[in-house]
Amino acid sequence: MEQITLLEGKRVILGVTGSIACYKAVDLASKLTQLGALVDVIMTDAAREFVTPLTFQAVTGRAVYTSMWTTGGDALPTHVAHVGLAESADLFVIAPATAHTLARLAHGFADDLLAVTALATRAPLIVAPAMDGTMYAHPAVVANVNALRERGATVIEPEEGRFASGLVGVGRLPETATLIGAIRQVMGRGGVLDRVKLLITAGGTREALDPVRFITNRSSGKQGYALAQAGVDAGAEVTLISAARGLSAPYGVRVIPVDSAQQMQQLVLAHLIGADALIMAAAVADFRPRSTAAHKIKKSNEDPGLTLHLEKNPDILAAVKDRRRDTRRPRAVIGFAAESEDLITNAREKLERKGLDLLVANDISAADAGFDVDTNRVVILDAHGGEQALELASKSKVSEYIIRRVAQLLGGS
Ligand code: CTP
Repeated sequence: MEQITLLEGKRVILGVTGSIACYKAVDLASKLTQLGALVDVIMTDAAREFVTPLTFQAVTGRAVYTSMWTTGGDALPTHVAHVGLAESADLFVIAPATAHTLARLAHGFADDLLAVTALATRAPLIVAPAMDGTMYAHPAVVANVNALRERGATVIEPEEGRFASGLVGVGRLPETATLIGAIRQVMGRGGVLDRVKLLITAGGTREALDPVRFITNRSSGKQGYALAQAGVDAGAEVTLISAARGLSAPYGVRVIPVDSAQQMQQLVLAHLIGADALIMAAAVADFRPRSTAAHKIKKSNEDPGLTLHLEKNPDILAAVKDRRRDTRRPRAVIGFAAESEDLITNAREKLERKGLDLLVANDISAADAGFDVDTNRVVILDAHGGEQALELASKSKVSEYIIRRVAQLLGGS
């Protein structure tokens, strides 16, 4: 798993409390470590009934803290561990959080290392409750969760599903990807795009021929989704207008699904006035069928083939350029250009024609860049003649870089 700048070297305290979902916390500790975080685990006595400290120690490569009274793996008396841990923490995550621990936190108890550390730290707190559905719906638990939320904690809502008891309800600890998504959103606060409203498009549009067929292109949407995640990591409020299929939405991103270029244009224009920056990463189909058949097109034995009549789709960025002339919004517009020849010449012409602040150009003739792969090799052109070629990198790393350039545009530097 590739490290991400947001979590590299960050100190995360992971509090683990006594729920059957403890085994999922092992995966969380492992993934956070792989992403570059330094994870210090604190386990309650009840948590140790489910998983051993050794398991967490093995996946984090660090000491695990279990008690205020015994000596810890760092050969320090752990009765002062909470002070050191609490002070150095960038984030305190409690997952899974039992009803008992939620109550202790809500009432400010200081009866074990986890509770004391929660009182001593000023790092942001995330709690991920996990318990049976009837317990989670109990007014006492609801009140405790609300109290924590009102005090500024982030609560990751449990999901609906089957419990170890066999019952079904809301109370399951979400999957690791969701927990990490929430952690990224919290850690992103105060980043270079803090509270900036970012509108992003992704995926290849689908232009319907009939109720079962459409014309599309090879865009997977991966670059647009990676940009949306990088936006959240930088503190932005991201809306993603997506024609992509089968990709899970990054946590905290509002996804608006679309099919055709016309739909995408309508939605982009509707969201434009509220956006600070627009990144058009979608591969918009240039043409659509002149008409969409109401019923499935049948083949007839007499016809040797089928002729499709196509007409031009609107150019969304051209419409944005027109709007922007009057409204001055969004303040930054970024386009993409997939080219198979004369990359720079074509890209420069496109940047000027579409009135862009930045254009991210990629050479789709390379096997390791462009459509449906996880890496990209891009050149970033700006409106002042600047041109920067990035090395082959993951779409996540390319996105981090583009987001920094967007922040520079908005910051005027
Ligand atoms: N784009 C758009 N509306 C379209 C087509 C493209 O807004 N109808 C946007 C894309 O999202 C991308 C940029 O314009 O950000 C460049 O897309 P590209 O397909 O490379 O350019 P085209 O305008 O289609 O130009 P050409 O056909 O000459 O390659």
